Amino acid sequence: MLKIINNIKKKKIPLDDYINTCLYKYKSSYYEKKKIFGPRGDFITSPYISSIFGEIIAVYITNYFLEKKLYSFSILEIGAGEGVMARDIINTINTINKFKNINFSYFILEKSENLKKKQKKNLSKLKVNWIKSLDDLECKNLFIVSNELLDAFPIKHLKKIKNDWYEKYVYYDNKKNKIISEYAKLKNKNQKIFKLVSKNNDFIEFSPLVIEFLNQIIKVLKKNKNNCFLTFDYGYQGNNFKNTLQGLKNHKKVSIFEDPGNVDITYLINFNLIKKIFNNKSNFNNIIMSQSEFLTRAGIIERLRQATNILTSEKDKLKLEMSVDRLIHPKKMGSLFKCLIVTNAN
Ligand SMILES: C[S@@+](CC[C@H](N)C(=O)[O-])C[C@H]1O[C@@H](n2cnc3c(N)ncnc32)[C@H](O)[C@@H]1O
Repeated sequence: MLKIINNIKKKKIPLDDYINTCLYKYKSSYYEKKKIFGPRGDFITSPYISSIFGEIIAVYITNYFLEKKLYSFSILEIGAGEGVMARDIINTINTINKFKNINFSYFILEKSENLKKKQKKNLSKLKVNWIKSLDDLECKNLFIVSNELLDAFPIKHLKKIKNDWYEKYVYYDNKKNKIISEYAKLKNKNQKIFKLVSKNNDFIEFSPLVIEFLNQIIKVLKKNKNNCFLTFDYGYQGNNFKNTLQGLKNHKKVSIFEDPGNVDITYLINFNLIKKIFNNKSNFNNIIMSQSEFLTRAGIIERLRQATNILTSEKDKLKLEMSVDRLIHPKKMGSLFKCLIVTNAN
């Protein structure tokens, strides 16, 4: 925490630099040290709610390739947290493998060294390969999957005042003894983001790193017609941007300036922007749908029925039903959470 504060005592830094410092840069940064996930952490993600989430994704991936009569493929998970979804996907495909002869490899690309260590420990009994960059992969019959990845990228806030664009900076006010933010005139007006948004926008919340990252994904997708990208995240669709930046601690919203390094900093994805990044570049099919629609179409209700039939305890049945309800109910995670599926249309 001291290191993070010292960093902003020296000079004002852009909001995305501040978020990167809080989440990743130091050993004292959020993702590098804390028990983040699950009921005892700061937030809970879909794979922790029920293993059915990963199972359904595994079935979707397998069907995607089997429909193309491809029995050999690779899966790359990006931003795998503690490896819970990886475990569920691999175990499910191994079970499917008892009936079909599938040959698959599982790769993980993870930014946090701390989480990579946890993944290696939690997945030690399964066959997983960790890669350092997307360039390390042979990009043939590759399915890229992620859950709550893009919301963990650092973002910028830009605001138009009269005809000039301003960017949010963060610094430590020694007199007030607290972290403050303020807008300053934008230095680089030729940012890629302006090519992607309407001229009517006067506020933009976006991550330059997401744009860069998705351009890398585009390159990978272009390499082979069977490659696919599936990502889940919370967000909205609209041409206007909302200010959705928030801190999360112990499952409660807090200020992003409170207790830096011990608070998750996150935001809602504007899926229209993500769609535009793909449309801008090449010939891709990209579909956005709610998490509820994806999971229902992919068979979560049938899977729930099968799973509850096997259970004998009423308490366990109810627990499972409630967790699936949490994943798909529109007032819970079903509607706010969305998924984007991108395939190569060439
Ligand atoms: C909010 S957590 C989600 C973890 C997990 N997918 C889940 O659903 O529980 C975000 C994850 O993405 C990782 N991450 C963030 N930026 C990344 C990047 N540029 N490349 C790879 N992993 C990244 C984080 O370290 C963390 O593992």
